Amino acid sequence: MEKLVIEGGRRLKGEVEVSGSKNSALPIMAAALLTDEPCVIENVPKLRDTLTMAKLLRTLGKAVDFENNTLKIVSRGPVSHVAEYKLVSTMRGSFCVLGPLLAKLGIAKVSLPGGCVIGVRPVDLHLKGIAGLGARITIDAGYIIAKSKRLKGNHLYLGGVFGSSVLATANVMMAATLAQGVTTIDSAACEPEVEDLANFLISMGAKIKGHGGPQITITGVKKLHGTTYRIISDRIEAGTYVLLAAATKNNNIVIKNASLTHLMALVDALQQSGIRVTQDQGKIYVKSNQTLKPVSITTHPYPGFPTDLQAQFMVLMALVPGVTVINDKVYPDRFIHIAELNRMGANIRREGTNAIVQGAKHLFGAPVMASDLRASAALVIAGLAAKGTTEIHRMYHLDRGYEDLDSKLQALGARIRREKE
Ligand code: EPU
Repeated sequence: MEKLVIEGGRRLKGEVEVSGSKNSALPIMAAALLTDEPCVIENVPKLRDTLTMAKLLRTLGKAVDFENNTLKIVSRGPVSHVAEYKLVSTMRGSFCVLGPLLAKLGIAKVSLPGGCVIGVRPVDLHLKGIAGLGARITIDAGYIIAKSKRLKGNHLYLGGVFGSSVLATANVMMAATLAQGVTTIDSAACEPEVEDLANFLISMGAKIKGHGGPQITITGVKKLHGTTYRIISDRIEAGTYVLLAAATKNNNIVIKNASLTHLMALVDALQQSGIRVTQDQGKIYVKSNQTLKPVSITTHPYPGFPTDLQAQFMVLMALVPGVTVINDKVYPDRFIHIAELNRMGANIRREGTNAIVQGAKHLFGAPVMASDLRASAALVIAGLAAKGTTEIHRMYHLDRGYEDLDSKLQALGARIRREKE
C-alpha cells in the first residue's frame, strides 16, 4: 500500500489538464455490450475504476485494448450473462452492465453491489425500471437475475426518495434502446454523464430524445452498430481543481480542457463567497478576494450542487471566517471526511444531515485516512492548503477517480509524493 505525502503552503501556478469523465466512461463502456461490432472510445481516463470495468468486460467475453486513453472493445465470441461478485463488489459502477446484458442476451445475472462508506446505496430504482420494461427479476444468493426474451417499451417514473438516479437512468435507458416500442423515463437523471451516454448510444444507432432533461424518450431498435466516440471531460475533476485553487489562494492556476457549463452551481456558490471563476476557450481561471464570505450549500441532483464536490467545498469553507452549513441531500451520510479534516485543525461538527463548519485561520498537516474518492480529494486540497506535512493513508481511493493526480499537481509546483506504507 502507498501513502501520499504533501508539504503544504507552497505557491502553485501553471496549467493543469482535466482528463475524460470517469462517470461517463463507466456506463459508456458497459453500453459497448449492446453490439457485436467494435466500439472505439476516446478520452477515457486510465483509472482503477475504468481498468476494473475493462476487466469486467473481458470476463464477459469482450476483447478490450486500452492504449493512450483510447479503448477498443471488440467481440471475440459469445458474451457471458454473468457479472461476478468479485468485480461488481469492488465498484458499484459495474452494476450498469445489467441493462445492456439483459437487452442483448435476454438474460443477465449480476451481483448486487452492496453498500459503501458514502451510504447504503440501494438499487431499487434500477430494478423498478428494468421490471417496468417487462423483465422477470429474481434475487438468488446475492445475484439479480433478470430475464426477458424481448423487453417492451413503457412509461416509467424513476424518481426516488433522494431524487433521480444517475446509474438507474443509465441502466434503463441502455436496456430500452433494444426494447420493442417506445420507453419514456420520467424523473430521469439530467447529469451531463447521462447525456453523454445517450449521445454515445445515438452514435450506435439508438433513437433517443430529451436526454439532459428530466424526461427521456427512447424508441427501441432491433440492432445497434459499432461506433467511435469521444467522451466529455470530467466536470468533477475540473471542479476539484477550481476548489484547490480557491482553498490554497492561488490565483495563477489555469485549468485546461474544461468547461464551466456543467459547473454553474459551484461557480454561483464561489461567486457569493468572493471568488471569480471565468472561462475562455476551454480554460478556467480562478481569482480570489483576500477576504472570503462563508456560503452554505445543499447538494442536489444536477444541475444542483454536486455531491461529488461537497467534501472539497467543505475544505474551502473550513478556511473562511464565519459559519457555513453544508447539507448533502443526495448522500446524507457522506461526511466521513469531517473527522479527518478536524485532525488537521478544522472546526466542523455534524448535526443530523448537516455539517456545521466554523472557519479556522489555518489548517495544519497531520496523518489522515482516505475513506472514499472525493473525501480523499478533499484531504489533498486540505494538505496543500495546510501548514506542515500531511500524510494521506489508503490513497488508493484517489487512483479510482483522478488520473495522474500527483504528477499533475507536481507540475503546478506542489510538493507531493507517493511513499510505501
Ligand atoms: N438511490 C436509490 N435507489 C436506487 C439508486 C439510487 O434510492 O436504485 C439513491 C442513492 O442511494 C442516492 C441517490 O439515489 O441517495 C442518488 O444516487 P445515484 O443512483 O444517482 O448514484 P449512482 O448512480 O450510484 C453516480 C456516480 C456517483 C455520484 C452519484 C450522484 C457513477 C459511476 N457514480 O452514482 O459518483 O456521487 O451518481 O451524482 O456515475 C464518485 O464519482 O465519487 C461517485 C460516487
